[in-house]
Amino acid sequence: MTAVTPHPTPPTARDDREVLLSVRDLEVVFGRKREEGFRAVDHVSFDVRPGEIIGIVGESGSGKSVTSMAVLGLLPARGVRVRGEVRYGDKNLLTLSKREMAGYRGSEIAMVFQDPMSSLNPVVTVGTQVTEVLHAHRSLSRSAAKEEAIDLLRRCGIPDPARRFDEYPHQLSGGMRQRALIATALACRPKLLICDEPTTALDVTIQAQVLELLAELVTDLGTAMIMITHDLGVVAGLCDRVNVMYAGRIVEQAGRRELFHHPRHRYTEGLLNSIPRLDADRGATLTPIPGTPRDTVSWAKACAFAPRCVHATAECVRGDLALEELTPDHWVRCVHPVEETRA
Ligand SMILES: Nc1ncnc2c1ncn2[C@@H]1O[C@H](COP(=O)(O)OP(=O)(O)O)[C@@H](O)[C@H]1O
Ligand SMILES: [Mg+2]
Repeated sequence: MTAVTPHPTPPTARDDREVLLSVRDLEVVFGRKREEGFRAVDHVSFDVRPGEIIGIVGESGSGKSVTSMAVLGLLPARGVRVRGEVRYGDKNLLTLSKREMAGYRGSEIAMVFQDPMSSLNPVVTVGTQVTEVLHAHRSLSRSAAKEEAIDLLRRCGIPDPARRFDEYPHQLSGGMRQRALIATALACRPKLLICDEPTTALDVTIQAQVLELLAELVTDLGTAMIMITHDLGVVAGLCDRVNVMYAGRIVEQAGRRELFHHPRHRYTEGLLNSIPRLDADRGATLTPIPGTPRDTVSWAKACAFAPRCVHATAECVRGDLALEELTPDHWVRCVHPVEETRA
């Protein structure tokens, strides 16, 4: 087995506000004991402060969902090794029993996944699913719970919520189902909402509405949010801070404006160059990133993006490379970072 190379605990801007959730050196390896296994998440560290919206962005397979499942204690107990720390209050969530963790899920930390059909129970009415959450975590009378559920459905932009209350998930459109799922997630006023590609399955116009709704709701309720997405556009409109993930690692971490105006990692630069810009000249060509995410070098090597990077040199795949602090607001893990600043 290859020796584990330590990655110094790095990221996260220094900030005096209290931290709600602190992830340190999170590592998830799939495989049986004594096997080297597949490292899906490698020394990931980030903080979430109350009311803050944190983005995790990266291509499919970069380890975003596995990171969120590890935080929520949703990974299977067998065939997977999870190390590191997920601090919430005075607890390391990774050390909690299944039962203790269930007490946190829903009431303290709630989640919204991509596919509302598989997250909502198809044989239970929408209203009952929301009131169940209210009953489970707060002692409300039947009528008070119903009233609150209808109000919540209304706040989540569901028209005629009193009628929708008695309908089943299949009677709702995709966008309405996602709104109902958001209502169940917010029913207990969680302090943190984790959204994993919440709008990827929706039409673009509905996508924008649901994102706007999420932003409005978390701001109103003071809920912090981790927004997981492969779409830089989602991050651009929503997040305070952004973590860019590649092959299981955070390769760049910065405030939103800083990241979009001055990307420093070659992968982030590539991502930005491969999406259309409204201010570009007509006919300007997009520059796709060559290769595929599968062109990765072994995790022990400095940069997994090197095989796809036009700036790569031998140094990029030799030895180890930590996230480096450029400014307190900007961290990057790159041997040849972008020098010049973008306009
Ligand atoms: N249960 C599992 N067993 C083995 N490998 C897994 C398992 N779940 C996810 N993976 C692998 O971990 C990597 C990261 O997956 P994931 O976090 O789902 O990516 P994404 O960034 O698209 O959400 C992928 O290569 C995936 O194949
Ligand atoms: Mg995913």
